[in-house]
Amino acid sequence: MQVHPCGPLRGVITVPGDKSISHRAVMLGALANGTTHITGFLMGEDCLSTIDCFRKMGVEIEIGEDEVVVEGVGLHGLSAPEETLYTGNSGTTTRLLCGILAGQSFSSTLSGDASIQKRPMGRVIKPLREMGASIEGKSDNYCPLHLYPSELCGIEYRLPVASAQLKSAILLAGLYAEGQTTVIEPAPSRDHTERMFRALGVEVETHGNTIVLEPPEDLHAVDIAVPGDISSAAFFLVAGAVIPGSELTIQNVGVNPTRSGILDVLRDMGADIVEGNFRDGAEPVCDLTVKHSGLHGVEIGGAIIPRLIDELPVIAVAAAFAEGETVIRDAAELKVKESNRIAAMVTELKKAGVDVEETDDGMIIRGGRQPHGASFETYKDHRIAMSLAVLALAAEGGSRIDEPEVVSISYPGFFDTLNRLGG
Ligand code: S3P
Repeated sequence: MQVHPCGPLRGVITVPGDKSISHRAVMLGALANGTTHITGFLMGEDCLSTIDCFRKMGVEIEIGEDEVVVEGVGLHGLSAPEETLYTGNSGTTTRLLCGILAGQSFSSTLSGDASIQKRPMGRVIKPLREMGASIEGKSDNYCPLHLYPSELCGIEYRLPVASAQLKSAILLAGLYAEGQTTVIEPAPSRDHTERMFRALGVEVETHGNTIVLEPPEDLHAVDIAVPGDISSAAFFLVAGAVIPGSELTIQNVGVNPTRSGILDVLRDMGADIVEGNFRDGAEPVCDLTVKHSGLHGVEIGGAIIPRLIDELPVIAVAAAFAEGETVIRDAAELKVKESNRIAAMVTELKKAGVDVEETDDGMIIRGGRQPHGASFETYKDHRIAMSLAVLALAAEGGSRIDEPEVVSISYPGFFDTLNRLGG
């Protein structure tokens, strides 16, 4: 795909539904008693993988024009899949499903694409085994994962990394355990599972970094409105901030505090972002308006990292256009995402002439020198592809992006929306 630098981006848009919430809506809807109507569902490939896995376990899921309807089978109503549950590129499907499958009275096998087969699963296997689960993985750390029926009991588990996928896998297994399940996080990660549990009547309490779940008798279906994904809005927030003359409004974006670190960082960098039309429900939502403004470098590390983990590639792009040095640290988790996102962004930013240095747990970007176009590689990673598209739009001269279709993992209409805005 060719990308040419563009003039100001102007207009009002919405972004597709939140990926994390869409996955959880299908999973918990399937385990609930009753019917769940999901609006705003993300029709990206990852969430379709989740639907596919639950259909293989006997759950009726209808994909309509405006909603997805899940006929819940109850906590103990899933049936044994006849084949491997294929999770595609989706870490969230793989890890959360592992927690659910650990508590079933049937055996199952989980696996995904080449990227999923390289992602660490030992972090999920270990606590689930402590709960009594019977799981085998390749080299005890990789897919395919084989799960066998077993009785679970609640544990208290201190997470080695702030990971919502790991936390959620343990809490989902906790639904099937005897006694309480307690998870202690090093720093708060996204809390969509806990919020949705509460909405469905599950007793789950959060005290600081500690989450305690009481195993429920059952889950009661509720309708779920999925807000726009702040991780998708992030590309437009950065494009609007760095492309001169831009002014964009992104409506209906989820701004759960465990996800909104990008707003804090971009504002620290000098971005002009205004929140309007705030509404608070199971998940807080608002409209975000961004205007172009000069940015400057900042230090990003510590407890904010899990609040913006998926936005770091595009924050690195913002840093390339910011005056001075941006240091990203405590972000080693980026190495085990859909690609090694530190290595990927450092390599691609260098191609654009950006002064950037890879570190053990992040990168240092010395910005302010106008980046130029280049021939970019996506590493088959949706967020790398969209971050590079923003870089290419704001750079000097044309660029090429290989395999741009990978964006359909989380944002099928991304390039259409960019073009509509003037990109
Ligand atoms: C997710 C959690 C995060 C995030 C991923 C989605 C989730 O991963 O990077 O895109 O839905 O729970 P980790 O749990 O590995 O940090």
